[in-house]
Amino acid sequence: MSLKDMSEDGDRECMQTDSEGSIGDLVIIRRVKPEELNKLVSVYRSAYEGLEDYAYTSGSDIRGYMRWLYRGDPGGFFVAELNGEVVGFVSVHTDWWDKRIGRTAEIHEVVVHKRYQRKGIGKKLIKRAIEYAVEKKCEWASLWVGAGNTVAREWYLKVGFEEVGEGYYWVRMLKRLA
Ligand SMILES: CC(C)(COP(=O)(O)OP(=O)(O)OC[C@H]1O[C@@H](n2cnc3c(N)ncnc32)[C@H](O)[C@@H]1OP(=O)(O)O)[C@@H](O)C(=O)NCCC(=O)NCCS
Repeated sequence: MSLKDMSEDGDRECMQTDSEGSIGDLVIIRRVKPEELNKLVSVYRSAYEGLEDYAYTSGSDIRGYMRWLYRGDPGGFFVAELNGEVVGFVSVHTDWWDKRIGRTAEIHEVVVHKRYQRKGIGKKLIKRAIEYAVEKKCEWASLWVGAGNTVAREWYLKVGFEEVGEGYYWVRMLKRLA
């Protein structure tokens, strides 16, 4: 069943899955295939609904951004797949440079489709990105999050990041890996 079908008449199916167990347990985390990058546009848009100040909004900008994320570190781009449908993704660049800490794994993006948020999928994605960063011998993971994106800020604290600086619009967060 596709996301579209689910939104049209599949709430019943989602609820059945919920009552039988966690949707997060059915999710597979795997590397993105370059040919599916364009499919991520709708997942990205849905995740950022209401947070457009911190996101690209035009289709061509988002597609360009997906390609930029992929090119920067193809091995660090993972998707969350549920019943054959991509419902979230994470991108980390493991050869990034930060003037404060030196080499770092920069988490550029982590998103979960609105319908599937708060089911443990984001946590699985970030865990996989961090595993990859550790495989690549990174000692730090880092990211920027929108200052007004309070849900994501709280969420990053929950998954072990610390806020280390705040600008007008963005907050810098770090996590020590080694
Ligand atoms: C941030 C984001 C990726 C989190 O993904 P998610 O799949 O909803 O998060 P999870 O279900 O894995 O959350 C894990 C924990 O955070 C908690 N959590 C998630 N969303 C929360 C919310 N809105 N309020 C309070 N707690 C929240 C969960 O309850 C869970 O806690 P637990 O492990 O103690 O039970 C998702 O909210 C998202 O796509 N946001 C929009 C895009 C964005 O802002 N990305 C970050 C860019 S810097």
